[in-house]
Amino acid sequence: MLDPKGRNRSPGGLTSEDVTTISLDSAVLTALDADAIVVGVHPAGDSVRPAGADDLDAALSGRLADSLTALGATGKAGEVVKLPTLGALPAALVVAVGLGEEDALDAEGLRRAAGSALRALAGKSRVAVALPATSAEHVEAVALGALLGNYGFSSYRTSERPGPVAEIVIVGSGDEAPVRRAETFASAISLVRDLVNTPPSDLSPEDFAGVAAKVAGEGGLAIEVLDEKALVDGGYGGIVGVGQGSANPPRLVRLAYTHPEASKTLALVGKGITFDSGGLSLKPAEGMDWMKSDMGGAAAVLGALAAIAELKPAVNVVGYLALAENMPSGTAQRPSDVLTVYGGKTVEVLNTDAEGRLVMADPIVRSGEDEPDLLIDVATLTGAQLVALGTRTTGVMANDDDVREKVVAAAVRVGEPSWGMPLPEELRKGLDSAVADIANISGERWGGMLVAGVFLKEFVPDGVRWAHLDIAGPSYNKGEPYGYTPKAGTGSAVRTLVAVAEDMAAGEL
Ligand code: BES
Ligand code: MN
Ligand code: ZN
Repeated sequence: MLDPKGRNRSPGGLTSEDVTTISLDSAVLTALDADAIVVGVHPAGDSVRPAGADDLDAALSGRLADSLTALGATGKAGEVVKLPTLGALPAALVVAVGLGEEDALDAEGLRRAAGSALRALAGKSRVAVALPATSAEHVEAVALGALLGNYGFSSYRTSERPGPVAEIVIVGSGDEAPVRRAETFASAISLVRDLVNTPPSDLSPEDFAGVAAKVAGEGGLAIEVLDEKALVDGGYGGIVGVGQGSANPPRLVRLAYTHPEASKTLALVGKGITFDSGGLSLKPAEGMDWMKSDMGGAAAVLGALAAIAELKPAVNVVGYLALAENMPSGTAQRPSDVLTVYGGKTVEVLNTDAEGRLVMADPIVRSGEDEPDLLIDVATLTGAQLVALGTRTTGVMANDDDVREKVVAAAVRVGEPSWGMPLPEELRKGLDSAVADIANISGERWGGMLVAGVFLKEFVPDGVRWAHLDIAGPSYNKGEPYGYTPKAGTGSAVRTLVAVAEDMAAGEL
C-alpha cells in the first residue's frame, strides 16, 4: 500500500478533506465566527471594489476599499491581501483576493481565487469564503478551489508546518449539492496528488494496485489485477518488457463502473510508470527525480473512477492502469529487443526510455474487448509535449476530429487547459523497423509528441473512436504554486475524464 514503511498515512492517501469539513452557510459576514473571512475585490481605478461584502464594509466604517488599497491591493487575479479587523468583527482577518475585471470573471477565476486565498491561510482552524457566486456552477467552483488550495502533503515531514484549514464555510445560499460535488472532485484529485507525490520506493506497481483495490472496494467498482505471471501468460508483452528490469514486478489493473441505464461505454487507459529511470537508455541525473510523476496518467484514471463511482453518471466506464517500473539491470530489456504486444503486433525497442507507449499498447488493444464507444488514454508520455505546449497545457490527439474537439472543449470547460494537436500520417514512416512491425522511436527528430500519438494509434482497435491526452507537463508543477495548484502533483486530467463521462451520459459525446 502507500504505507509499507509504517509512515503516518493510510493506504489510499490521507488527503486534506479527511481532516477538513466544508459547509454552505447563508450567515451575515459581520456575525461570522471564523478566523478569517475571504472576500473578492475587482480593480477600480487607483483603488479596488469589493464584490458584495456591503455589511462587512459598513462594520469597518466604510473603509474596506481604502484600507485594502493602502495595503497595496490592486484587485488583479491571484493577489491576496490580509487586513486585520481590530475588533470591529468577530473574525480577526479579512482576506481580500483579487478577481480581476468583473466581466472576465468565470468559474475558473473563482476556483483560482478561492485556492489562492486558502493557500495563504494554512494553519487557521475556521475560514469563511464569501466570494461572489450566484449559480450552482460558481458555488461548486468556489468550494472546489478552496478545497484544492487547502491541499497539503505532509506524510513525510517530521518538522511542524502549518497544516490545512480544518473547517471551510462557503458563504452563500441554495442547496448543498454543489458543495458535495466539489468534495467528490477534491477527494479524487487529492488522491491523484498523493499518489504522484509519494516516493517511488513506497509506490511500486504492486502498491499502486493495492490502492486501486481499496478505491474499488469503497466505490463498488469491479476490479481485476493481473500480476507478472498473468501478464506473461496473457501475452502482455509491452508491460512485461518494460517491467522486467525492476525488482518490483509490473501489474495491469482493470476497474469497471457499470450503470443500469447506461447505453454507452467509455474506456480509459492510464500510463503508470511508478518510476522512469529510462531503463538501459538511462536518463541523465539532472531532473530524473521528476520521473516519480510518470504514473500521473494511471492515477488520473483511478481518480476519475473514484469520482464517477460517487457521481453515478449513466454511462459504463472501464479503466486500465498500466503499472510498471522502468529500471536498468541484468534482466532489463535491451535496445534492439523485440516484444510482442497483446494481440500479436511486434515492436522493436530501439530506446528503452520510450517505455510509456509500450505499456500503453497492451491495454489499448485489450480495451477493444470492452467494445467501447470512446477510448481515452492519458499519459505523461513525452518531453516534446512540454516543448510544444509548455507546462500547463495538455496536448490532445485523436483519430476523429469531432472527438478531439469535444474532448478539448470538455477539458477547457472544467478548467484544464488543453489544445488539439494533429497526427500527421507522414510521421508513421519514421517508425518503420528493420525487423518488427513497428519501432518504438522514430528516425524523425521533430514532433515527438505527435510521433508518440501516431505510435499509439497503431494499437487502437478498428472502429473505435479514440483520444490521447499527453499530460507530461500538466501533471506535475515544478514551479511555484498558483491558484489552487500546489507544487508537485497537480491531479491533472481527473476533471476532464469525468466531464467526458458526464457528456457521454448526457448523449453529447
Ligand atoms: N516519462 C517520459 C516523458 C516525460 C518527460 C514526462 C518529461 C514528464 C516530463 C517518457 O517516458 C520519455 O522518457 N519520453 C522520451 C521519449 C523519447 C525517448 C522518444 C522523451 O520524451 O524524451
Ligand atoms: Mn521514458
Ligand atoms: Zn516515461
